[in-house]
Amino acid sequence: MSRIAYVNGRYLPQRDASVNIEDRGYQFSDGVYEVCEVSEGRLVDERRHIERLQRSLAELRIAMPMSPAALGVVFREVVRRNRVRWGIVYLQITRGVSRRDHAFPPPGTAPSIVVTARNLDFANAEKLAADGVAVVTVPENRWERVDIKSVSLLPNVLAKQAAREQGAREAWFVDKEGRVTEGSSSNAWIVTRDGKVVTRQADHAILRGITRTVVLEVLAAHGLKLEERAFTVDEAHAAREAFVTSASQIVIPVVRIDGRPVGNGAPGLIASALRRDFHRHAEFS
Ligand code: PDD
Repeated sequence: MSRIAYVNGRYLPQRDASVNIEDRGYQFSDGVYEVCEVSEGRLVDERRHIERLQRSLAELRIAMPMSPAALGVVFREVVRRNRVRWGIVYLQITRGVSRRDHAFPPPGTAPSIVVTARNLDFANAEKLAADGVAVVTVPENRWERVDIKSVSLLPNVLAKQAAREQGAREAWFVDKEGRVTEGSSSNAWIVTRDGKVVTRQADHAILRGITRTVVLEVLAAHGLKLEERAFTVDEAHAAREAFVTSASQIVIPVVRIDGRPVGNGAPGLIASALRRDFHRHAEFS
């Protein structure tokens, strides 16, 4: 079955889907994206993803190319045409096509929009969750507005590759003060020895993950203690548990950081419980 992409108003076989070489996303990374989980064929937390998209677009002064409701229709159509049961829908919006010039293109230049969707390997995801993953730390070298979900991901790409080359699944960025900001494609969490769940406050130094937001609700429902603050790599080494969150992976326990075991080296109870209960708190549409 050929995959179908939505590109600027048309549904096309992915091999025929293309964007202009003068698209500003291609030339300047001048665009934003969203990744939304699909579970049992339904969108997970669509409303929150679209709200964050609107915020990212507004921060970059790119016009929203269609209404949230119309975007929802496109999401569902791409999910349906690609027969996605469990996987992701990917959306990218750029400032459009224009002769290359760093400054914004002329008013009225239409943003470009692409939506794709694909199934993910559910069994593999469950295995990662059951085994836990390794993380390495890398120096934070991104710009100061990573709260904007920009497609400009070069440091994240290099960090993820560094992780892979060290046999790890994720890289955690560490700021100059030795504090973890977030993962290359996930938010970072620890559980302290005295049972407090810690994740960095959502300021400009991290992406305010949608999974993170829902996990905060799950924690509250469980009556677990939360501290929204930065934690150091040393604290992470001394933690009882660690885990990462993202739309495509939900909650994944971290069992090694820079080669050293976290806690007893097995997935933690809190991370596993959060993963189990996540979808009871998420919104389906
Ligand atoms: N990544 N931080 C970064 C840098 C991310 O790229 C992501 C998501 C997150 C978690 O956000 P959310 O819970 O909304 O997925 C945090 C997506 C999945 C990606 O780039 O594929």
